[in-house]
Amino acid sequence: MPDISRFGVIGCGLMGSGIAEVAALRGLDVIVAESTPELAAAGRDRVAASLDRGVLRGKLTGADRDRALARLSFTHDLGKLADRQFVIEAVAERREVKLEVFRQLDKVLTDPDVVLATNTSSIPVVDLAVATGRASRVVGLHFFNPVPVQKLIEVIPALTTSADALDRARSFATEQLGKEVIQAPDRSGFVVNALLVPYLLAAVRMVESGAARPEDVDRGMELGCAHPMGPLRLLDLIGLDTAQAVAESMYEEFKEPLYAAPPLLQRMVAAGHLGRKSGRGFYAYDA
Ligand code: CAA
Repeated sequence: MPDISRFGVIGCGLMGSGIAEVAALRGLDVIVAESTPELAAAGRDRVAASLDRGVLRGKLTGADRDRALARLSFTHDLGKLADRQFVIEAVAERREVKLEVFRQLDKVLTDPDVVLATNTSSIPVVDLAVATGRASRVVGLHFFNPVPVQKLIEVIPALTTSADALDRARSFATEQLGKEVIQAPDRSGFVVNALLVPYLLAAVRMVESGAARPEDVDRGMELGCAHPMGPLRLLDLIGLDTAQAVAESMYEEFKEPLYAAPPLLQRMVAAGHLGRKSGRGFYAYDA
């Protein structure tokens, strides 16, 4: 199977920017599409800032950063992705938004062998696949935050995914992006979130009920179980809006009360306390 050289990323938020950065550092030609010129420019700034941090920490040389930036281009015109061999969607975790991206992508992509991946955390991959005229070429590739650090990608074949598209997605993730994969079922939450989300929501309920303070919950899990960060710090990293959307999709699928977003989480999202990205969540962050 020839390597993928022309890669596309739709959406340049936390996840899309991390995916684009990793791909460019691994030598791929990457086009990143956002919905407006302003968001495309903000996406470029996000990737550039992350590469600069890599240089400051001595992880990358200035030349590595410059080569990666030269391989990246940013656009608000989805049509620019026409010649891509592999495209991943990493837009907001909202079904209608993702469906629309898949419908549009289907119209612009010209390579019959192109693979369309989704980084959804919780929306059924098959729903996105059947929104296109090429359901056999659609697969889930679920990355973890921060993408440059976390080694795992969940690979999720939908009922419609062909063996060829699945093989291509696996080899792209492992050989080209240098990640490790597990295969996960096309059920809301896949493997990791099915275990992680009820735990995170239980931590919110513990704080909501006044039973424990956020810093005690987090220190408990960091020092007692050697987790790199406690559940409330992790929610702040993931983004409370994203966590709420994932919990709601999982609840919608299973009607399992442990997956229901607690009122405190919902109110914090309504207040714009989304975690690190908004400067405030369970903790306060510098701008
Ligand atoms: N880009 C590149 N490297 C980064 C980075 C980034 N954005 N953030 C951190 N790093 C690197 C640092 O350079 C550092 O590397 P070295 O050890 O080689 O120097 C290392 O990661 C550790 O970073 P820090 O010292 O700054 O901070 P830390 O030790 O507190 O680690 C962390 C930060 C990597 C985020 C760590 O706390 C961690 O792994 N936390 C758990 C994250 C997690 O569980 N993610 C999954 C979320 S669930 C999800 O994403 C899926 C979903 O659908 C919701």
